[in-house]
Amino acid sequence: MTDKSRVLIFDTTLRDGEQSPGATMTHAEKLEIAMLLDDMGVDIIEAGFPIASEGDFEAVSEIAKRSKNSIICGLSRANFKDIDRCWEAVKHAPKPRIHTFIGTSPSHRDITKLNQEDMLVRIHETVTHARNLCEDVQWSAMDAIRTERDYLCRVVEAAIKAGATTINIPDTVGYTLPDESADIIRMLFEKVPGADDVIFATHCHNDLGMATANSLAAVSAGARQIECTINGLGERAGNTALEEVVMALKVRRDLMPYSTKIDTTKIMNLSRRVSQVSGFPVQFNKAIVGKNAFLHESGIHQDGVLKNVETFEIMRPADIGITETNIAMGKHSGRAALRSKLADLGYDLADNQLNDVFVRFKALADRKKEIYDEDLVALMTDSAANTDADFMRVKWLQVICGSDGQSAELKLMVDGVEHHAKTEGDGPVDAAFNAVKAIYPHNARLKLYQVHAVTDGTDAQATVSVRLEEDGRIVTGSAADTDTILASVKAYVGALNRLLVRRTKTAPDADMKSVSFKE
Ligand code: KIV
Ligand code: ZN
Repeated sequence: MTDKSRVLIFDTTLRDGEQSPGATMTHAEKLEIAMLLDDMGVDIIEAGFPIASEGDFEAVSEIAKRSKNSIICGLSRANFKDIDRCWEAVKHAPKPRIHTFIGTSPSHRDITKLNQEDMLVRIHETVTHARNLCEDVQWSAMDAIRTERDYLCRVVEAAIKAGATTINIPDTVGYTLPDESADIIRMLFEKVPGADDVIFATHCHNDLGMATANSLAAVSAGARQIECTINGLGERAGNTALEEVVMALKVRRDLMPYSTKIDTTKIMNLSRRVSQVSGFPVQFNKAIVGKNAFLHESGIHQDGVLKNVETFEIMRPADIGITETNIAMGKHSGRAALRSKLADLGYDLADNQLNDVFVRFKALADRKKEIYDEDLVALMTDSAANTDADFMRVKWLQVICGSDGQSAELKLMVDGVEHHAKTEGDGPVDAAFNAVKAIYPHNARLKLYQVHAVTDGTDAQATVSVRLEEDGRIVTGSAADTDTILASVKAYVGALNRLLVRRTKTAPDADMKSVSFKE
């Protein structure tokens, strides 16, 4: 890349984002998100960690085959076996990339039992191996920020000499501050031979709420690739949020004259979809994509915005794809109106998908007089939650509750076969969850049960999130319905379906923190 005013956007929602406890996505969901990212103009999609499991490998291979515009990248630790597996998955892409990393800070060197010199040899061998397979090789110094500065220069030099084309400087634990983030990039340009021939990337975690600021500071100092995720999804406090850095660069071009290739009008749709498939709700006051990001509550603000929108708005809702009108639909609205409304909300449905959503829409319209945008988004969440393709699907539920006690009767499809259970519990939700357990016994523990009203009114739909934990694996399921108990059971069953996906991850060998370098 010779255009120094271009900043590459590297999205790792499907790799680092999916590492968020509970954010497991299915194969189909990963493909869908990848295609949306490809279409939005993301330069590089980190599609997964191919050695982690058969499922990750297949997802990366399939994304590689279907990609049209983006570079498709897979992650690999610093050993030949990981790198070979990564190449097998990404090689199908028109533009493949191998990303290999090693922890370079003192504590990581202790864990890997490699001294400084041995680690330099390891970097040389693995980057050379990757480069023999693929022209485009990214190398990351995990925990770069806490690596001794002189040694950081040496490892970066070794990776460049071995042929890495992109050098990533991650703030793995979200520890740095903007000045330091910039200083490190500047230092590398000054001290490392060959630094001008590669692209420096910044990869920040948000433990101190600094990820966006640190990423932008690194760009000011010369980094030309920002690694980020939609909604800032990621381990612990998450990664840099794509929507924040992209909109900051767009809104403050006066101070930061760098462009990205992102079609920002697709941001809101991606944010909703990632929230749906990961089961992580977006906080109301989240910058750019939060529900309140463009709401003006106080009279002074409302008055100001009505007279001149720039009084209190630094960007327009339409810039990120929020349609300005929220006209209610109802039971007389037809298929064409629904298709057009969903298209405004960013859902481009094939005919068979539209038929399915239309049936659900009509059923909702029978129960709820006016259907707003939020209702349709919730309906789409639910359509993704309880489908024929799922291993388990709720077929029918009846709950009796009141002062005389609570019981639930459930029909659940399990692998295509209908099962039935009638159980009691301490409250209607407990009774209904007991029915699921009676049909599908398991040891997963309920870690979170959360209900949100989608709109005002007692006929509002409820969106329910359920988080389960089993042997350290955490998964989240979400569903929506005007019947809160039904939504709860669908969310619970959705989480169990994800647990089945999660179980296929071959944990020990795939552990990111694994110290094994066996080949
Ligand atoms: O945070 C980190 O250091 C990472 C690396 C694997 C790039 O995610
Ligand atoms: Zn990371």
